Amino acid sequence: MIEMSFANAKSMYRQEFITADRSPHKKLLFKLAVTIFFAVFASQTSFAFQAITQDAATQTDDVKTAIVSIDELMANMTLEEKIGQLNLLTPGGAVTGTSVSKDVASKIAAGNVGGVFGIRGIDRVRQLQEIAAEQSRLKIPLLTGMDVIHGHETIFPIPLALSCSWDMELIEATAKAAAKEATADGLMWTFSPMVDIARDPRWGRIAEGAGEDPFLGSAIAAAMVRGYQGEDLTSPTTMLSCVKHFANYGAPEGGRDYATVDMSQVRMHNEYLPPYKAAIDAGVGSVMTSFNVVDYIPASGNQALFKDLLRDRWGFDELVVTDYTSINEMTAHGLGDLQRVSAMALNAAVDMDMVGEGFFRTLKQSLEAGDVTQAQIDAACRRVLQAKADLGLFEDAYRYCDAERGKTDILSESNRNFAREVAAQSFVLLKNEEKTLPLKKQGTIGLIGPLADSSQNMLGTWSVSGDAKKSVSVMAGMKQAVGDDVEILYAKGCNISDDPAFAKRVNTFAQEIVISDLDADEMIKEAIEVARKSDVVVAVMGESSNMSGESSSMADIRLQPAQRKLLKALAKIEKPIVLVLFNGRPMTIKWESENMDAILDVWFGGTEAGNAVADVLFGEVNPGGKLTTSFPVSVGQIPVYHSMLNSGRPYNGDGDAPKFTSNYLDIPNKPLYAFGHGLSYTTFEYGPPTLTQTEINDGETIYVSIEVTNTGDRAGTEVVQMYLRDVAGSISRPMKELKGFEKIELAPQETKKVSFEIDQSLLSFFNSDLEFVAEPGMFELFIGGNSVDVQKLEFELK
Ligand code: NOJ
Repeated sequence: MIEMSFANAKSMYRQEFITADRSPHKKLLFKLAVTIFFAVFASQTSFAFQAITQDAATQTDDVKTAIVSIDELMANMTLEEKIGQLNLLTPGGAVTGTSVSKDVASKIAAGNVGGVFGIRGIDRVRQLQEIAAEQSRLKIPLLTGMDVIHGHETIFPIPLALSCSWDMELIEATAKAAAKEATADGLMWTFSPMVDIARDPRWGRIAEGAGEDPFLGSAIAAAMVRGYQGEDLTSPTTMLSCVKHFANYGAPEGGRDYATVDMSQVRMHNEYLPPYKAAIDAGVGSVMTSFNVVDYIPASGNQALFKDLLRDRWGFDELVVTDYTSINEMTAHGLGDLQRVSAMALNAAVDMDMVGEGFFRTLKQSLEAGDVTQAQIDAACRRVLQAKADLGLFEDAYRYCDAERGKTDILSESNRNFAREVAAQSFVLLKNEEKTLPLKKQGTIGLIGPLADSSQNMLGTWSVSGDAKKSVSVMAGMKQAVGDDVEILYAKGCNISDDPAFAKRVNTFAQEIVISDLDADEMIKEAIEVARKSDVVVAVMGESSNMSGESSSMADIRLQPAQRKLLKALAKIEKPIVLVLFNGRPMTIKWESENMDAILDVWFGGTEAGNAVADVLFGEVNPGGKLTTSFPVSVGQIPVYHSMLNSGRPYNGDGDAPKFTSNYLDIPNKPLYAFGHGLSYTTFEYGPPTLTQTEINDGETIYVSIEVTNTGDRAGTEVVQMYLRDVAGSISRPMKELKGFEKIELAPQETKKVSFEIDQSLLSFFNSDLEFVAEPGMFELFIGGNSVDVQKLEFELK
């Protein structure tokens, strides 16, 4: 080993990153020691990181080695270089805020940048990586990130849709496939999964999460993390995952994005925190802050949230990154100037500053002023460097820059086939009167609606690298499915919206809402003619891709007026109508639920959406999706979800609610379509449930079992759901909480037995002292195919 200095590039380093003391949940991700060589060739002015094995017998005389740890690396870093590692920039491309980083290349060369994100194309990523790994003084490679949310170039259904599959293996496999594509495109860090519980469909970002329930949301969070990160984070096909947005981002007042969040600690701990914790327990390598306040302090500067809860109580010692300029936004929140709020963020144990450059511009002054400490800067820098080490970047800065891989790994036929399968699994059959679906491949079908021939609107929000031109429209999918057997007549019938101002706002990224030159009445007339000539009408309607997603909140979540008018006109023709609904949120579709013969909710299915819609419409695939968010009757009912508290004056019936009970005069309490609802082309019958014991004594586990039979004439999948209610406790507990589910596949007439395990941990909750306790007493257990049609049992925790 040679004594050397980092300023002297004519040496070669081997780094040993000792990871044995890392938190136990990361054990899969690290080797005990990562051996890294910084190779420098005496004859070269710049050097590249180069992986060389320990028995590097091939070393030439002009290559020398030394062992360096993160400690040693940091010992050679200037304060500016350390602060530089905390700086995460985006040079533009896929931008989601009002600012874009400037002079990115020169900042990288100066050692002032730790990572970049939102860059499309491996060549651009590589260019920037080369600047970091070859031109900056210490040659520290960059983290390269992207919002790979539901697929990279092969786009899978939006996360809310994916959750409706209730299939953890499938969901994990989508994340794995997304990681394989993204890493073939130069990326190594995804800002996913978003696990924010959401119960307000006005909030556009409900599309990006797994719905209203923390138990299901936790399972999905863990599945996504496993999918992205795999067993070995250094593999060039896996990527670092980032769970977001910590915390409570999914509960903004009025459903307005970025607005105030305020909730009790009890609710937060029982209902909002579990999915983040599940991601952490699954070994997620990074956490993103949220834009909102938590107890009136913006999350990005909130010590109670990050330092006390995430770091100290949960033991998370990995990377924490802010959301886009969220440190700077603390000034607008009313917390002070940039220097002050940046210091707040560092004091809260936040490591990396996304885009805002508050750390970069002010931490030095804050250090001089004594508002932050060197130890805090070091800790943050160390966590950034450790993430890089975990990804294997010090062994090979270009690990994720293999352009060859793109030729086979991106948008491959097998990925597309998989996306088609996944999309069909995510659809929810909300209604199917008189077995209108599946359609027969005969006669004439009237294909009507503004989304019927719109490949632009198949991908949904956050499909940054998806190419809408490569996605399959419903029309293309249906035509392909029926060939010459069926005549498909098409009419657009109306625009997604007739309002140019609204269309302009929605069309920020692409022409999703195209307003036709034709007069609205003319369009409807044309559609009516098509409907008259048809045996059945398939009306493809709903939202455009970016009517949900970030900064896409809506106060009115009905179909747009032009679409409602068209549907009403079509309903008068008295032909069976199947409504194929595209949406990123639950919509209020009461009239449609009363007047359509069938409703298939297809969300945004991604690249293969059109083929998957055809697969389900024509019965190649039997739909099995179940709702993970309740569909409200009207906006006035929000929030409505299955796990509400009972209140002191409950009304849980269907008829006229008595005076002085908790209800509305004008609408029912129950949602239009409940959590867990979803039909199939076959039918299932549930036998009587049984419990192994009706008492649980200390440390005991009991089981509930039920037999489910497919009583129809075709194979199908069913999601068996178990809910619990703690009847009397030290605090008021929900009327029903999902505590178990299993997706089963049944052949016609086949019966399967499903069992769920119940132990004390399943009965535990955070009490008003925030202790996780199971309280003795009676519990009700509900089991069935959705949250409403259930059978009830009781047991007692002794
Ligand atoms: C803002 C969003 O809130 C966040 O989810 C996303 O990851 C970042 N922008 C980066 O694009």
